[in-house]
Amino acid sequence: MGLGRLPPVLVLALVLPVGSQPQRQLPRESHNLNWNKFSGFWYILAVASDVQGFLPDRDKWKLGASVVQLHNVGQLKVVFAFSRSRGCQSHTLILRKDGKKAVFRNTLKGVEGFRVLSTDYSYGVVDVRLGRAGRTSKTLLLFSRQNTSSFLSMKKFVDICEILELTRGSTILPKDASCAHTILP
Ligand SMILES: *[C@@H]1O[C@H](CO)[C@@H](O)[C@H](O)[C@H]1NC(C)=O
Repeated sequence: MGLGRLPPVLVLALVLPVGSQPQRQLPRESHNLNWNKFSGFWYILAVASDVQGFLPDRDKWKLGASVVQLHNVGQLKVVFAFSRSRGCQSHTLILRKDGKKAVFRNTLKGVEGFRVLSTDYSYGVVDVRLGRAGRTSKTLLLFSRQNTSSFLSMKKFVDICEILELTRGSTILPKDASCAHTILP
């Protein structure tokens, strides 16, 4: 499934160059991220996850959303809205920065890691690790300030999906903002 909603030519353009790239390292942009610039409302345009049942049935797919706020020193408040099988659901998390590392966590709430792997502040590729020690799942989210993705942001997302081996679980969400807008600030 996954990329089924993109025109076939675009899928080829996105997928073909990836295999020929010798560099397979994760980008590490979050090391010098400006969290003030990254704060605010984001649409979630695409999801890739190895969590079984992360997305509901296809007829319930909608854009997700997130609101990111610097809370206190070294703390982020992150709200997520996703369309689930029981309808639109939102969650609020307070995440703490892990020392000098560019990762935020809340292990009590099962968030092992929240990292921004790539951003120009109009889009963001966000890596979320959920679970407890030893049983961690990977979820990659494409954040965008607008309800449509740019070619560059989608390419970054697809490239990072490949590196994290999440391509088979990747989905471009349909442009229904009814759930996303429930957390508009
Ligand atoms: C996407 O955003 C544009 C501009 O903000 C808006 O006009 C359009 O209705 C939105 N589309 C959807 C499907 O929400």
